Amino acid sequence: MNNYKEKFEKMRTAGDLAARTLDMITENIKPGISTDEIDKLGYEFIRDNGGFSAPLFYRGYKKSLCTSLNHVVCHGIPSDRILNEGDIINIDVTAIVNEHHGDTSRMFCIGKSPIKANNLINATYEAMMKAIKILKPNVKTGDIGYEIQSHVEEKGFSVVRDFCGHGVSTKFHEPPNILHYGKKNTGIELSPGMTFTIEPMINSGKYEVKVLADGWTAVTKDKSLSAQFEHTIGITENGYEIFTESVKGYHKPPYL
Ligand code: MF3
Ligand code: CO
Ligand code: CO
Repeated sequence: MNNYKEKFEKMRTAGDLAARTLDMITENIKPGISTDEIDKLGYEFIRDNGGFSAPLFYRGYKKSLCTSLNHVVCHGIPSDRILNEGDIINIDVTAIVNEHHGDTSRMFCIGKSPIKANNLINATYEAMMKAIKILKPNVKTGDIGYEIQSHVEEKGFSVVRDFCGHGVSTKFHEPPNILHYGKKNTGIELSPGMTFTIEPMINSGKYEVKVLADGWTAVTKDKSLSAQFEHTIGITENGYEIFTESVKGYHKPPYL
């Protein structure tokens, strides 16, 4: 067994800052706010708490977080777009502290959202948590994909194929890829000390996506709604640790 205690200590600190950033955003997001204003709030909170926003300057990205609205699947770029009643949005925060990355995202509902959107959001959160709960050494990456895919397809939703979870520690993205679809007992075996994200993107329609001309914004091809949650996780001797849990209990909307 390699000693991963120090690595986990740093992952915990980075993960906690990312989670607290989303907690802070939860208390500030409301109809009339722009995604640029949310970006600024996130940038400042992370900086003021001893970290740096990983997306900023990452592969030419110019903002501090991702704001993916309605049919945007992921990597939505903050802009002057104002949030309106009925919008659903994923906000994805990655904080670097002591060279380690905490990567997490949650869905937010602006005012009252349609039932179909709420069902999609609930299924996406449940699928992520079902996959997390099976984690321990010797489980395989395909088992993770199986849990997510079987849960959401049963409800008529689909799993995005073109983006996946990823190893994360001193690098933002590193091996292994964590697919959100798959078959039991396939893929690579998990072992103590591994750290990675699970971040299923689930569409209410078909799974196909396309990337817009800005080179980042991924949208559903059929314009259907998309939802996503993300946690950064570590594998322990007999289970797992979630590094990006909300201390305030802001797990999924409604955040009362
Ligand atoms: N946080 C995203 C992820 O979950 C990656 C965003 S890359 C960016 O992997 F440059 F768009 F910010
Ligand atoms: Co990620
Ligand atoms: Co992320």
